Amino acid sequence: MKEKIEALLAEIESLACKSEGEIEEARVRLLGKKGEITKLFEEFRTVAPEMKREFGQKLNQLKTAAVSKIEAMRNSVQDNTSSASAFDLTKPGDPFLLGSRHPVSIVREEIVEIFRKFGYDVAEGPEIEDDWHVFEALNFPPEHPARDMQDTFFISSSANSILLRTHTSSVQVRAMEKLPLPIRIVCPGRVFRNEAISARAHCIFHQVEGLYIDENVTFADLKQAILLFVREMFGADASIRLRPSYFPFTEPSAEVDVSCNICHGKGCNICKGTGWLEIMGCGMVDPNVLEASGIDSKKYSGFAFGMGIERIAMLKWQVKDLRNYFENDLRFLREFETSL
Ligand code: DAH
Repeated sequence: MKEKIEALLAEIESLACKSEGEIEEARVRLLGKKGEITKLFEEFRTVAPEMKREFGQKLNQLKTAAVSKIEAMRNSVQDNTSSASAFDLTKPGDPFLLGSRHPVSIVREEIVEIFRKFGYDVAEGPEIEDDWHVFEALNFPPEHPARDMQDTFFISSSANSILLRTHTSSVQVRAMEKLPLPIRIVCPGRVFRNEAISARAHCIFHQVEGLYIDENVTFADLKQAILLFVREMFGADASIRLRPSYFPFTEPSAEVDVSCNICHGKGCNICKGTGWLEIMGCGMVDPNVLEASGIDSKKYSGFAFGMGIERIAMLKWQVKDLRNYFENDLRFLREFETSL
């Protein structure tokens, strides 16, 4: 029996099982119901009483050695499968692609935010409009070229035609019809014109219209509002100049230029050597337009302005081809990832 115990001890010490299955096999062989060690415990009953003490100690040692060896082998097999093969916790994660805001929405939000700070609300109107809101109420004469099939997408051309709005000025008419006075709003939105698509023109683009109507609103208020906007948008050193112009819905009307933010007035190819960039149209709301929407033009006056969002974005990022904004080329859109 003594030799048997010694032999088993040596065997246990040299055991090197590599899988859970092998460990279980060894456990059954040694400690199972019919295992070697279990058999020795049975044999122990027949040992002479004076030898019991010595053999008892040896047998207990043997059992403890077997139990702890099996436990140790189990731990090491588990460690190996969890850390080495299944997961490498030191591996850097795969970056997942975040979408980016479209440059048109970045600029639209920037423009709207600036006017919101000045106390303007945001108003929106339908893209599919009627002739009244796009032309008639805005004082467009019947023979105006914008009313031609060549310039506007008509959906139906009955008495009050249904068409895709050609400008967001239609929203100022809707606002004047239903909002209480005074009105101070900006109206961002998509507009449509029947244009051949090129680097400088597109049949879809975006505008922001502005409208302020109250008692005693003057041209000086208009100029001040535009100057404040331009300084927020293009920097504190930006300046503006107004050139007389014509729009059916404003009188007097002007076109606004901002000092070129690339060459700072010295002249470059972006401003075509003039030092100025055209950014919007504006003017005092024509009394006919106020009256068409039921506003007393003797008591109230107001100003309006309208600018193209793509145009402002082009100046901000020097994008020369308008088509880039509509083609959803990811190489172009990813350029704006940091502008979130
Ligand atoms: N609606 C004009 C356009 O589409 C832009 C514009 C010019 C709007 C002058 C205005 C304005 O409100 O006063 O080109």
